[in-house]
Amino acid sequence: MKLNITCIPGDGIGPEIVTEAKKVLDKVASEFGHSIEYKDILMGGCSIDVHGVPLTDEAIEDAKAADAVLMGSIGGNTSTSPWYKLEPSLRPEAGLLKLRKSLNLFANLRPAYLYPQLKDACPLKEAVADKGFDMLIMRELTGGLYFGERWTKEENGEQVATDTLVYKESEIRRIAIRAFDVARKRRKSVISVDKANVLDSSRLWRKVVEEVKKDYPDVTLEHMLVDNCAMQLVKEPTQFDVVLTENMFGDILSDEASMITGSIGMLPSASLNDTSFGLYEPSHGSAPDIAGKDIANPIATVLSAAMMLRYSFNLDKEADAIENAVRKVLEDGYRTTDLMPKGGEDNFKLVGCRMMGDLLVERISNC
Ligand code: NAD
Ligand code: IPM
Ligand code: MN
Repeated sequence: MKLNITCIPGDGIGPEIVTEAKKVLDKVASEFGHSIEYKDILMGGCSIDVHGVPLTDEAIEDAKAADAVLMGSIGGNTSTSPWYKLEPSLRPEAGLLKLRKSLNLFANLRPAYLYPQLKDACPLKEAVADKGFDMLIMRELTGGLYFGERWTKEENGEQVATDTLVYKESEIRRIAIRAFDVARKRRKSVISVDKANVLDSSRLWRKVVEEVKKDYPDVTLEHMLVDNCAMQLVKEPTQFDVVLTENMFGDILSDEASMITGSIGMLPSASLNDTSFGLYEPSHGSAPDIAGKDIANPIATVLSAAMMLRYSFNLDKEADAIENAVRKVLEDGYRTTDLMPKGGEDNFKLVGCRMMGDLLVERISNC
């Protein structure tokens, strides 16, 4: 099979982790008899530096022309980088939001799975970590606070700022359908997370999710308030199978969920529309504090590439080969710094980003 992949290395650790994911994909291609054509495009701060905008129309066209997009991460230090002196629509993140919207990538799948080999890196109580967990956060990605009207103005001698949280029934329905469909292939449970005790948008969310549920008698539905969910995630993560939630809640809860898998460097994601096209990226950011040091964990990006093979190309065996390589490399005791337990240097082997990529490549096999 010929795979046309557009890559967005981006900023900070982005280029380092995308390089490792490409190495792994190339090994998969040679083991399984596929060919991959890559085209790199600029997005984020690197695009601002070259073109003055975080995403050009040409780059959007290049993304659309591909079968799938593999991304690293974009952005800089939001306190110190000159990119954050620009008006908000010209900052790095505006490029990512524009891309998500232009490609209608409304369904963001973020699987949080605790590899048994990483129990020692999980910050939860031993008894909780011992049980393990495997959840999928289904985050709505093209609505809510991120895309509502916003303004800042002077009123009665002081500045006032507003961000608007808007959801249409149709937007809630399509993401809820995705959540119930995927739950059917998993443990048949959806927990929908909202703030229906306060927000109108959440009350609409709950009503529409209840309507969708009627078509899925085999799947259970529970509603949970977002503050409680944040607490339950660290108390008893085994209770979650599919977590369905709106854009901002999903952003925050997925960072929390990533940490209980051992590190934010472990959480991949797929952003999908109604076709086989998808954008695949780790859930973490550009980590400016560790950029260029060859210490970033590339696993979330490598696992995002596995999601790409599964969702955009239907290449399940190839995706399995990547996930098995991750399992083996952890089993063999290799750890990037973020996964190294305190005082664990005697039991584990500390490796950098490039080395982790090489070790994964060695473990990819077609059998
Ligand atoms: P971040 O996720 O970049 O970093 C948070 C912490 O996690 C840092 O200490 C970092 O070193 C660590 N970390 C992140 N990824 C890691 C990895 N693969 N291996 C080891 N450690 C890792 O979040 P932040 O610092 O709040 O944001 C930095 C920039 O990234 C901001 O500009 C933000 O807007 C952007 N961002 C981009 C994306 C994206 O491109 N999808 C996602 C989140 C944040
Ligand atoms: C993510 C990021 C983005 C988001 C930012 C960079 C706009 O945090 O992908 O989780 O908030 O969606
Ligand atoms: Mn985020």
